[in-house]
Amino acid sequence: MSNQNNCALILALDLETREEAFAMLDRLGDSIEWVKIGLQLFTAYGPDFVREIADKGYKVFLDLKLYDIPNTVAKAVQSIASLPVQLLTLHGSGGSEMLEWANKARADHAPNLNLLAVTVLTSMNETQLRELNIKATPEQQVIHLANMSLNAGIQGLVCSSLELCPLRARFGNDPIIVTPGIRPAGSSADEQKRIMTPTAAAAAGSSYIVVGRPILKADDPAHAAHAIQAELA
Ligand code: C5P
Repeated sequence: MSNQNNCALILALDLETREEAFAMLDRLGDSIEWVKIGLQLFTAYGPDFVREIADKGYKVFLDLKLYDIPNTVAKAVQSIASLPVQLLTLHGSGGSEMLEWANKARADHAPNLNLLAVTVLTSMNETQLRELNIKATPEQQVIHLANMSLNAGIQGLVCSSLELCPLRARFGNDPIIVTPGIRPAGSSADEQKRIMTPTAAAAAGSSYIVVGRPILKADDPAHAAHAIQAELA
């Protein structure tokens, strides 16, 4: 895929209830093609909710950030293979064996699914890495985990938009790179600290930008989503 020229918008469907989620999607109309379902809605409503979203025509990014022993993660990937999901996250820090087993389960059961390795959570800074006895800086650790994940055969990465340039410089255009922490010019940063505009993230090589509150909390969510789509186009 040509990542540099082709950046798509994913809506982070960070809402509390299924009713709120479907009401929001109704308001958004055709302005959204991709939906990210995270732990909150998945733990509340499970696989049926994923199927309902897909039945409405959306592509699904299931953000479960899997992390466990290799066999358990591989079995989870095998279970998810029965769901209409295009993108699924797991933690790069689970290690190369976990990543390889997950990728084998994907290849065997869901060849069209793309796995994305989460590197260092953007909520973690150098102090928190030290707490885990990791001596690298966050950027060094991101590169290290990205390298390990891609060598294990994983299709892509989730990272802060500020890490796009070093990752593209090191790994080229092939890996899918998904970036949250996106804020259209003039919108509130909320608690996100390291942000980029949609245009800047696309130019830096993001394959998909994940946007939640700038759309969900807009007075006119469809207008906000259309404006981001227009920026990306
Ligand atoms: O509302 P906002 O646009 O900040 O939402 C961003 C989405 O991306 C949320 O679902 C958040 O959990 C997710 N995310 C993030 N930073 C990461 C990984 C995921 O903001 N490092």
